[in-house]
Amino acid sequence: MANKPKLTVLQDPEEVAHAAADRFVELAAAAISDLGRFTVTLAGGSTPKRTYEILASEDYCNRIDWPKVHIFFGDERCVPPDDPQSNFRMAQEALLAHVPLPGVNIHRMRGEIDPLEAARLYETELRSIFIGSNWPRLDLVFLGMGDDGHTASLFPGTAALDEHERWVVENHVEKLNTFRITLTAPAINHAAYVAFLVNGTGKAERLPQILNGPRYPHQLPSQLIQPVDGTLEWIVDQAAVARL
Ligand code: 6PG
Repeated sequence: MANKPKLTVLQDPEEVAHAAADRFVELAAAAISDLGRFTVTLAGGSTPKRTYEILASEDYCNRIDWPKVHIFFGDERCVPPDDPQSNFRMAQEALLAHVPLPGVNIHRMRGEIDPLEAARLYETELRSIFIGSNWPRLDLVFLGMGDDGHTASLFPGTAALDEHERWVVENHVEKLNTFRITLTAPAINHAAYVAFLVNGTGKAERLPQILNGPRYPHQLPSQLIQPVDGTLEWIVDQAAVARL
């Protein structure tokens, strides 16, 4: 039975970013103490960038045992890693280039190659970290939410929403006229901790529908995210919950 989501409402995006960075530090310390490593999946888009910058800052950087951190991505655009649209590039510029992470600990989705091949390679890489597991037990998954209710690259009405076996898929997104590479909902749902970061009035209409409305996961894919044995937290600002 899924646990009830935890709703953390903060004043503004800067407070949300700090709360997310604090959660990262807290969960990293616990995972490294318990397991000797911390596996975390970064979200793309614009919201999490400030969190990544804070994690790279002097106040935070030294609170994390970076050589024991493994960085994954929840999704990627089908572009090269130096493309302005690349989620990897955003994370690289905001965080990864500024912390002492061994290169082998950064697990990039290869947006520059054939999407099916990229998805298969990424699943193989994940399976090499979570050896013998039916599903990846990520310690923390950061997610954003689009104003259409998508998360990662699980967009409304797309094939990936019905994937129940693969950990990573290529997903054709008709409205964007492109493929994306994305973790599947079951792969995300086996994480120990999932934290949505959602800011702004643009999300205020959709958020109550997702949190409290009837379940229409094909129209509101963020509703698919229900950790089977983990914690779900929504870290949001006042503007995003204005209509809750
Ligand atoms: C992406 C993201 C996507 C993002 C939402 C919210 O690749 O775009 O993974 O799921 O989290 O679209 O984006 P913003 O944070 O920019 O609102």
